[in-house]
Amino acid sequence: MVGNPSGSAVDISKHSSEGSSYGSAEGASPWSKEQQAKRRKKWLIVGLALTLIGLTIAGAVTGVLLTRNNAVPSSSTSSGANVVKQSNPKDPSTFIKNPNLHQAFYGIAYTPENSQLPNCGNALGDVITDIQLLSQLTRRIRLYGADCNQTALVLEAIRQTKVDMQVWLGNYPIATDNGAAYERQRDIIRDALSTYGTDHISGITVGNEFMLNYLLGQGATTTDPNSPVAERGADILIANIQDTRTMLDSMHLPKTLAVGTSDAGSYFNNRVLEAVDYGMANVHPWFANVSIESSAQWTNSFFQAVDVAQADALANRPQMYIAETGWPSKSSDAGNASNGPSTASVANLQEFLDTFVCQANTNGTAYFYFELFDEPWKDRQFGGVEGWWGLFNSDRTLKDIRIPNCQAP
Ligand SMILES: *[C@@H]1O[C@H](CO)[C@@H](O)[C@H](O)[C@H]1NC(C)=O
Ligand SMILES: *[C@@H]1O[C@H](CO)[C@@H](O)[C@H](O)[C@H]1NC(C)=O
Ligand SMILES: *[C@@H]1O[C@H](CO)[C@@H](O)[C@H](O)[C@H]1NC(C)=O
Ligand SMILES: *[C@@H]1O[C@H](CO)[C@@H](O)[C@H](O)[C@H]1NC(C)=O
Repeated sequence: MVGNPSGSAVDISKHSSEGSSYGSAEGASPWSKEQQAKRRKKWLIVGLALTLIGLTIAGAVTGVLLTRNNAVPSSSTSSGANVVKQSNPKDPSTFIKNPNLHQAFYGIAYTPENSQLPNCGNALGDVITDIQLLSQLTRRIRLYGADCNQTALVLEAIRQTKVDMQVWLGNYPIATDNGAAYERQRDIIRDALSTYGTDHISGITVGNEFMLNYLLGQGATTTDPNSPVAERGADILIANIQDTRTMLDSMHLPKTLAVGTSDAGSYFNNRVLEAVDYGMANVHPWFANVSIESSAQWTNSFFQAVDVAQADALANRPQMYIAETGWPSKSSDAGNASNGPSTASVANLQEFLDTFVCQANTNGTAYFYFELFDEPWKDRQFGGVEGWWGLFNSDRTLKDIRIPNCQAP
């Protein structure tokens, strides 16, 4: 989910990879059916026309949006029981490592399965399996929201597996609910911090595509996150960010936690960035119709030219991360099997891994790969490529890919 600040918005009826981004308050959302239907048509905002001269990028720049529809209750064909063996079945820290996995990824985007209200169905055992797998691929994960007790489940799984893992917790506020989703998740996060401390926490991300969703929800004709209409959304988000800082201060924690926000790559509001320690940007070459051969370099170029440049121009210079990037391995329909120049395929997933992961590490880019496993509920609900972005199949078996063999910083 990327967009170009100078680009025009175009709706195309494709869904986003952001499905992961839900996070929270579906059930509690006051959006009317009509509003939801409208939002459904607006998954994908495409800001056109980033052409970086001197680079082999004639890029369309895409912003992708997945709205927060009510999540379909996953038929809880859930995860990978028995995928990871333990030498002591009662001790999750004794898991047997898979020699095909390497800690090559700077970070990975993660949401425990079945963590969307009102259909919470996540389970500690499944989260433990995921953390066992994740810890063999990375030392950093980011969450999108806090509902369904996912914060505590992830921290408990890290405790039991004893892995070296840092988490950027998530709070997924909704602009139109008078702060209900924000406050509910803030309190879950506070409780989890009280129980688990800060050893495994690197930051708290307040907002997931908040500015993008705000502009769409207003029916705004502009995609400019610094336009007058956007500034009203920024006020809401900044109040949430400041409230999180107040909450953290009042807890007198052993370390000061960074507070950030995550949004589509071209939807950062300057005052929001001035209020945070870090920003996380979705940058998706698939949705920008970039060829697989150009995708790794395009991702880097877009992120540097748009997100890092914007942050560096501000006095506080917030640290910028890529919040999501990846490549789908298939489409459920022929119409979405290609993004124009390239197809959704395992071979192209492999090429993106081979050209992006270790190179981004070397370049010092901080990124969260999208994503750990395929998500059948997204495929059922959205079709297309939505459900097929995982390194693993939904049953937590590795796809027919080679994980790059380098050590992430
Ligand atoms: C949340 O998860 C933690 C860790 O498993 C558990 O101790 C706690 O009881 C859970 N809380 C709820 C409300 O389920
Ligand atoms: C790494 O940096 C080089 C040189 O600036 C650039 O060409 C390349 O696209 C970058 N790759 C990634 C994956 O960041
Ligand atoms: C692409 O997938 C979406 C669902 O993600 C679907 O609505 C649309 O019809 C598909 N497009 C084509 C051309 O098949
Ligand atoms: C990307 O390619 C798809 C499939 O060919 C097409 O439907 C869509 O309009 C293209 N989008 C852009 C921004 O070029």
